[in-house]
Amino acid sequence: MHEDIKSIEREFAEEIEKVSSLQEIEKLRIKYLGRKSVINQLFSKIPHLSKEEKASFGRNLNILKQKITECIDSKVSLFRDKEEKIDVTFPAEGIYFGRKHILTSVSEEICNIFEKIGFVVVEGKEIEDEWHNFTALNIPLEHPSREAFDTFYLKLPQDDKGKYLLRSHTSPSQIRVMENTSLPLAVISPGRVYRPDKVDASHSFMFFQIEGFCVDKCISFSHLKGVLLYFAKSFFGDDVSLRFRPHFFPFTEPSAEVDISCMICKGKGCSVCSRKGWLEILGCGMIHPKVLKHCGINPNKYSGFAFGMGVDRIAMLKYGINDIRLFYENDTRFLRQFYEV
Ligand code: DAH
Repeated sequence: MHEDIKSIEREFAEEIEKVSSLQEIEKLRIKYLGRKSVINQLFSKIPHLSKEEKASFGRNLNILKQKITECIDSKVSLFRDKEEKIDVTFPAEGIYFGRKHILTSVSEEICNIFEKIGFVVVEGKEIEDEWHNFTALNIPLEHPSREAFDTFYLKLPQDDKGKYLLRSHTSPSQIRVMENTSLPLAVISPGRVYRPDKVDASHSFMFFQIEGFCVDKCISFSHLKGVLLYFAKSFFGDDVSLRFRPHFFPFTEPSAEVDISCMICKGKGCSVCSRKGWLEILGCGMIHPKVLKHCGINPNKYSGFAFGMGVDRIAMLKYGINDIRLFYENDTRFLRQFYEV
């Protein structure tokens, strides 16, 4: 009987040396310590032994069981250590937190520039009616942009302000503010606008605009020029110059489109500015007397200027991005490059 204990011990010692995985150790545990193990079989023989034998055999068997248990446990932790070893010197993967989208940052940066000279930020409505989006802005019924293909109309019950729609520009903010605010006023109004345009590198059915306007006694075109030059220098850098080109907008008279000198070639002509040396950034003008009247403002006493710019376009120019879709695909590799990690 005591011989059995010794041979089990020898056999176990040989086998445990050879194990090479946690599964193999588990097999040994079952073989030596499981319910049907050789050791358990020896335990079941104890009741049939003489008194003296019982004590010494039982003790030795218990010692063997104890040794095997400890040996198996220490082998298990050895393998676990090997398998799950963590190299604490290995560089950790960066953790990225949510950040402001680049268009939000650019929009805020632009608004801050105007806020510094007294403009107040007012957000308009994304769901507008025909009166605010068109009629009050002197965009007549027969104007092409009124037609369905230029505007997303909503299936909502119509009221005296016409059909509901997703605003196609931020200019209706002018009307909402002028209807409800006492003069003088200087407002900057950022937000999303919607147009059923076919999506390509320079068009998106939703994009961002910023509207600015100022109404007081004796406001003139030179105020507009001064404010826009201050903005362009603050945003693009001191060496930028502006060019005002005569243009037409129904809600301003006179109207202009404004270009900045190309910051890539400094006005010499390159592929970014199509060899023109200039890049268009916004539309502007003196608020049309009819628009002031629609808001209950006497155009003989008051005048105002207004401008509107596309945030996407300005961000594309500033950061040299050639495809508007990149802003909306939300590929974090694109979005992350504007921030330090
Ligand atoms: N609303 C015009 C557009 O979406 C932009 C614009 C042009 C706004 C001239 C103005 C302005 O306030 O005076 O194309």
